[in-house]
Amino acid sequence: MKARVLSGLQPSGQLHIGNYLGAVKNWAEIQGGYESIFCIVDLHAVTVYQEPKELAAKIRETAALFLAAGIDPEQSSVIVQSSVSGHAELAWMLTCVTPLGWLQRMTQFKAKAEKQETIGDGLLQYPVLMAADILLYQAAIVPVGEDQSQHLELTRDIAQRFNSLYGQTFVVPATHLPIVGARIMGLDDPTQKMSKSATGSGHAIALLDDLKTIQKKILRATTDSQPAVDVETMGPGIANLLTIAQACDSSVTKESVNGMRYGDFKKRVAEAVIARLEPIQKRYREVTADPAYIDGILTRGREHVLPIAEDTVRKVKSAMGLYV
Ligand code: TYM
Repeated sequence: MKARVLSGLQPSGQLHIGNYLGAVKNWAEIQGGYESIFCIVDLHAVTVYQEPKELAAKIRETAALFLAAGIDPEQSSVIVQSSVSGHAELAWMLTCVTPLGWLQRMTQFKAKAEKQETIGDGLLQYPVLMAADILLYQAAIVPVGEDQSQHLELTRDIAQRFNSLYGQTFVVPATHLPIVGARIMGLDDPTQKMSKSATGSGHAIALLDDLKTIQKKILRATTDSQPAVDVETMGPGIANLLTIAQACDSSVTKESVNGMRYGDFKKRVAEAVIARLEPIQKRYREVTADPAYIDGILTRGREHVLPIAEDTVRKVKSAMGLYV
């Protein structure tokens, strides 16, 4: 039997090249070697207010982007988190074995809480629900960007704690980071992670940005004031652009760009990004032309994973002495 892979992505904001290079590209590359499940985590998105109509549309848009970016429904299940009740159900059981202190020290919780006027309980519970997503399917491997590493550590801690309290129940999952692109930084500020929630038109390259906008954003990206690329001494702005280009096009090497004037280098980066995104955008337009196709994929995904989820919930209930 193939080992199981699970990963997730929130259907909020604009999907950007950090999400693609840090996560979805890697999913598409490894999907064939595993039993793969990719989850649109709408229950996570509502930890901060989402306009209901927009959220409903975003869920389908995200599914279409998964498919456009190479997730093959013949090889992988694409699911919506809220369509399988086991995610929320297991999250409660895991909440009951998770010490509050473990959640309060999560850096993403601290960062998000700072931005909210009132901090919803869901924001604190966020990583427990994420642990439930993974443990529900007994996933062995979780391909994510680097910003999720701490949540994965927590998932392992929760799994181990549950296993030691109630007996061996969960597979303890491993984190899988991409070799290049695990942490893409903002184009406007290369010391900040590229993020869906950041504002500023020059911050992120959205996967659906038109090609001219992509070119413009890259040409305007913040760099230091050196005239030309020096791979030995390059600052964070140039390093980030180089990472983006290398992750988009493996023929871009340090040697091939060393000594290039910044203007020419940025054009080379834009070329690599556009060559990567253009076919994804084309496929996205094809996929979205047929909404019934997307709904069909989500229904099939759900049907495929439901027995796995139900089996785990039954095991967990029985291990805890709950009514089965
Ligand atoms: P989310 O929706 O913020 O991001 C989805 C994926 O994109 C990666 N990522 C990045 N990678 C490189 N550079 C960046 N700047 C960058 N920004 C985002 C993230 O690491 C992630 O892999 N909590 C998760 C979603 C989630 C999940 C799960 C993931 C819910 N349940 C179970 C794995 C397994 C999140 O908010 O991702």
